[in-house]
Amino acid sequence: MISRRRFLGGALGVTGLAAAGCGAVSAETAGQVLSSALPLPRPFTVPLPIPAVARPTRPGHYEVVQRPAKVEIVPGTTTEVWGFDGTFPGPTFQVRRASPVTVRIRNELPVPTSTHLHGGVTPAGSDGYPTDLVVAEGRGFRPPPGGHSHHGMRVDPSQWTLHAGARDYAYPLDQRAATLWYHDHRMDFTAPQVWRGLAGFMIVGDDEDDALPLPRGERDVPLMICDRAFEEDGSFRYPAADPSLLVSAGVEAAYMEGVEGDVILVNGAPWPVLEVSGTRYRLRLLNASNARRYRLELTPGGRFVQVGSDAGLLAAPVAHEAITMAPAERFDVVVDFSAYPPGTEVTMVNTLGTGPARDVMRFRVARRAREDSAVPGRLAVVEPAVRSSAAASRLFDFRRTGQGPEASWTINGLPFRPGSPLARPRLGTTEVWRLTSDFHHPVHVHMAHFQVLSRNGRAPAATDGGWKDTVDVRPYEVVEVLVRFEGFRGRYMMHCHNLEHEDMAMMADFEVV
Ligand code: C2O
Ligand code: CU
Ligand code: CU
Repeated sequence: MISRRRFLGGALGVTGLAAAGCGAVSAETAGQVLSSALPLPRPFTVPLPIPAVARPTRPGHYEVVQRPAKVEIVPGTTTEVWGFDGTFPGPTFQVRRASPVTVRIRNELPVPTSTHLHGGVTPAGSDGYPTDLVVAEGRGFRPPPGGHSHHGMRVDPSQWTLHAGARDYAYPLDQRAATLWYHDHRMDFTAPQVWRGLAGFMIVGDDEDDALPLPRGERDVPLMICDRAFEEDGSFRYPAADPSLLVSAGVEAAYMEGVEGDVILVNGAPWPVLEVSGTRYRLRLLNASNARRYRLELTPGGRFVQVGSDAGLLAAPVAHEAITMAPAERFDVVVDFSAYPPGTEVTMVNTLGTGPARDVMRFRVARRAREDSAVPGRLAVVEPAVRSSAAASRLFDFRRTGQGPEASWTINGLPFRPGSPLARPRLGTTEVWRLTSDFHHPVHVHMAHFQVLSRNGRAPAATDGGWKDTVDVRPYEVVEVLVRFEGFRGRYMMHCHNLEHEDMAMMADFEVV
């Protein structure tokens, strides 16, 4: 437990609180920047790491240990991460559609965990519900006395489930090829635990994807983009171990909106560089940041050809000069580096960022090479979203409620209440969900995928296409999505994927019946 004194010292000692209030860019900013005490590393010097591929212990079975580890993130310093297999990002699971896998997660961390497969069509018992915890062997867990009252949340004692040491998560994976990711989802502590490293990729393949001539192998690169801040000794800097403390002690104005770091990491390395040949590459972009939004662009110019979205391939490719990504969104894109002469340095920048956070990573085009990939004009059969098919329509309003220590982020005015579903959609139906907001709230729905029907009464944005599980809802926007409840009955959740908002009560159960 972090003491109040240390917490206050940490928070008040922060000098780098950027004022989130000036100009056009700030309107796109979704959190408060926490600056590093450490001198920032030089950009584009560290090679891009590629996370290790998880190896099954026997066909269809994996075992992963969540443990602390010391790693070198900023050259010359070490950072303690909490990682799956002690790595950040965790290992990449390469799995196949409809080939079920079981992942045994052993927790050797000092804190309880719950692991969620984001984008997975997963039975409720394996979905990583926030109160369904794995507690390390020999460590106890006592539910907070009197239920939880942070941010108006109350947890009935019956809601806690504890697994001692380890548990198995079952993933049927009866879903289209897609870039999924897994991360911690512990009640009240998701933001600090993901910040410390508990996240990784799960990539689902299928025959439809395999049949396409898209770049493969070394030219198919997962890119987990997130921001962090560092203490002088190299450890991760975060305002408080318990995000609920962000609001108490009168510093809520500082971090209520969410925590952003001043160092951009890709696959766990600061502003890395990847040497590429002058050919096409498939880049699986994931925004794994707690709060930061990015508008990715290429300098000196270039285009991202989007082939897939959160939940799989698009019907046809869509070219973008810029891609805006809210937390948890994925964009599967192809970049053709043959457009640049060898020797060119192509920088992926974040035009919503300022200062060092404006850079993301660099590609160094080394040499020409044989091209054996292509982006066909038709990619996949994607059923269009049909509004008239909806069995119901519902409104979910994402909004801040209350002031000072009473403040929380709520859905329809309600703080998260485990076990009290806000909706009971029927399995096999579709519904229109109308999402409204007072701030940046990337809205995520577990298990059920959706398509964006409209944005502010108009057509969806060019980057809203395909089946998705997370949608970028900006201040005072109205976004309608058509959600398809296919998969499993049971208790699931929807929430804001700004992880600080999530920990501050912006979640809700829904029950598929
Ligand atoms: Cu990626 Cu419920 O979250
Ligand atoms: Cu999810
Ligand atoms: Cu939010």
